[in-house]
Amino acid sequence: MTLDTNGQTSTFGPDRLTLTSLLTAEDLRRSLTEDARAGLSASPKWLPPKYFYDERGSELFEEITRLPEYYPTRTERALLTEHAREIAEIADAEVLLELGSGSSEKTRLLLDALTQAGRLTTYVPVDVSASALTQAMDALAEERPELVLNGVVADFDQHLGQLPAPGRRLIALLGSTLGNYDRPGRERFLRSVAEAMRPGEGLLLGLDLVKDPGQLVAAYDDAAGVTAEFNLNALHVLNRSLRADFDPDGFRHLARWNTDEERIEMRLVAQSPTRVELRELDVTIDFEKGEELLTELSCKFRRSSAARELAAAGFRDARWWTAPDEAYALVLAKR
Ligand code: AVJ
Repeated sequence: MTLDTNGQTSTFGPDRLTLTSLLTAEDLRRSLTEDARAGLSASPKWLPPKYFYDERGSELFEEITRLPEYYPTRTERALLTEHAREIAEIADAEVLLELGSGSSEKTRLLLDALTQAGRLTTYVPVDVSASALTQAMDALAEERPELVLNGVVADFDQHLGQLPAPGRRLIALLGSTLGNYDRPGRERFLRSVAEAMRPGEGLLLGLDLVKDPGQLVAAYDDAAGVTAEFNLNALHVLNRSLRADFDPDGFRHLARWNTDEERIEMRLVAQSPTRVELRELDVTIDFEKGEELLTELSCKFRRSSAARELAAAGFRDARWWTAPDEAYALVLAKR
């Protein structure tokens, strides 16, 4: 399957396999330009995490999900294995739409359960990474010849209102990706998801819960250094996309637990005074020794506050499934 990058839909076979691009490589480069201009001139410096996920970054994230320290993926998979059937029955969906679908690896549990529940016709994976999406769709197309696959390359901060709804949907946001937003960002995001949904449609969230800071920091600073490489990959993306000259060896990965905000913050720390040229932006950025660039927030949740946030955004009837050690939760709420 090849990606059409001019915003058109490519169809393969009789509508069974379509790939729509709402976000071209050029759009992504333009938003990176804006975000880098704003974030790298701010104090403290920041960059949104979506730019981690070029081809290499998506591969590194898949590697993270298999690390011994990174419990979220396997805990979520165990919860889905145990409860997908009940989730599918409550959701009663014809369409599974997954935001940030990545490799679609855990999705198979939901697809199976929804198929057994009897009404599923269509899977709509949505991801910012065209390479991850095409790979996932190629594999699924072979495995599930009965399923209609409508992939969408999109940024769900921009395109929620334009996502397809070829039937009653279950919208899934797994992997605790909601944790990438701070509280105001989450409020905005959940409201726009609610706005894009029809009454009775379901939203399934995977949420990583507040726990021992030692365990949390280890999950974001693994012994093998994969998360460090993932974090530093953001600099390679800037170098390539914005013709910048970051020296990744001059920065160190840092994962810190912010006790007040109950979130992990990933940063890159300049090891010496550093000047970087971003030729595409025609700007020069200076880092002091020890200066930090914030690259990702990973907020951790408590059931009580998350339930309030969902209700405030217009969701109802939330059902929760929590891992035995309270490490992680799935929540299904209806619009
Ligand atoms: C996919 C955004 C949920 O925050 O745990 C993993 C990404 N970053 N290790 C997370 C991530 C570092 C992940 N999310």
